[in-house]
Amino acid sequence: MHMDAYSLVEGLRCTNCGATYGFELMLGGCPACVEKGELAMLDPFYQTPAAQDFPAAPTTLWDGHKTLPLPDSMCRTTLGEGGSPLLPVAGVDANWWIKYEAVNPTHSYKDRTNAVAVSVARYFGRDKVICTSTGNHGVALTAYAASAGLRCLVLMPADAPALSLQEMRFFGAEVAIVEDGQIVPLLESLVLDHGWYVSQRNAPGVGGRKIGNPYGMEGYKTISYEIFHQLGRQAPDKVVLPVGGGDAAWGVYKGFRELRDAGLADRVPQVIAAQSAKGAPLVNAIEHDLAQVAPVDTSATIAFSIVERQTGDLALQGIRASQGTAVAVTDQEIHQAARLYAGMGVCVEASSSAALAGALKLLGESRIERDETVVMIGTGAGLRWPATFDADLPPIPRVAGTVASLQRVMRID
Ligand SMILES: Cc1ncc(COP(=O)(O)O)c(C=O)c1O
Ligand SMILES: [Zn+2]
Repeated sequence: MHMDAYSLVEGLRCTNCGATYGFELMLGGCPACVEKGELAMLDPFYQTPAAQDFPAAPTTLWDGHKTLPLPDSMCRTTLGEGGSPLLPVAGVDANWWIKYEAVNPTHSYKDRTNAVAVSVARYFGRDKVICTSTGNHGVALTAYAASAGLRCLVLMPADAPALSLQEMRFFGAEVAIVEDGQIVPLLESLVLDHGWYVSQRNAPGVGGRKIGNPYGMEGYKTISYEIFHQLGRQAPDKVVLPVGGGDAAWGVYKGFRELRDAGLADRVPQVIAAQSAKGAPLVNAIEHDLAQVAPVDTSATIAFSIVERQTGDLALQGIRASQGTAVAVTDQEIHQAARLYAGMGVCVEASSSAALAGALKLLGESRIERDETVVMIGTGAGLRWPATFDADLPPIPRVAGTVASLQRVMRID
């Protein structure tokens, strides 16, 4: 019996062919589907959780341990992630909220996925972890690897932001800048042939990818458990997330689906993906009713954390299953949304503001009704990303140390 088990996890199921596997270390996707060149994402499944297996009032990620894929609490790695505030969005005449994930230990919701991924690495006895990331994911992984005492390698493109690199090295990670177009093959051979544990992107089969981590994305489910509690044991009508690779969109969908299946939530909210108009593979897939996400061309945007040529298909499946949608927003719309947040004292990065920009757009098109409860996921802090801030503000006035001098340039009573 699993009655007192730390986790109810039973195994991994292929989302393409339905094959099930025990709870094993599988970073290469479903072998049968990889062989056929098909989608091969694995998805953890659990002994059917009952209502009491979900935390009544979660204040940390690990309060949701029963439905996280970590059988042994001794392997848990935590920096205090989760338990972020749900703040009302001011300045909009609607019942809108932001789940303020910038308060996580390394300032983004990537802490949720990496806390779980690193804990699972320890459970399977792995001592070296790897990812490719230009930003939040990499910083989060390096922090959790440091906390767990694991070796950490991050593969970066040449244009990686200097601040993230410094932060990662501060946490003791090894960082290599890899020639254009060579990162993925290098990552794959290190994972498949050299024992490195990849922490990210559950997308084997998507765009010919050979690897991906099926455990970490479960961490995002805890966002849903917390929102459900914070709204007074109620699911919202809609959840809007900025989506790049798509792991979080799937995780949030799955979390609410679990709550509904356990008889706690009366519905699964519609999951809405906000993407940049400079690269919106999910919007493309939904508009053209594609069976699978196809790659799209991308170009520069302030929302670079969410620009991917190809979003993973689990995100598309979660959006479809929840009757959600995807919306593309321009940099200008993102800046307007960021200003709205700034007026509340909230500073999230431009990618995160894309969710609010998307919601405003859908409200304008009556695809969100004014009486609906909508939660934006404020995925990461603005402070790491200079593009968050307006570049076109007027110069700051210089004044002498007199009130009269100040009165010449601003209103002082
Ligand atoms: C702040 C922020 N928001 C959103 C995303 C997109 O997350 P996902 O790749 O899970 O869709 C990222 C990914 O790097 C991110 O850093
Ligand atoms: Zn399969």
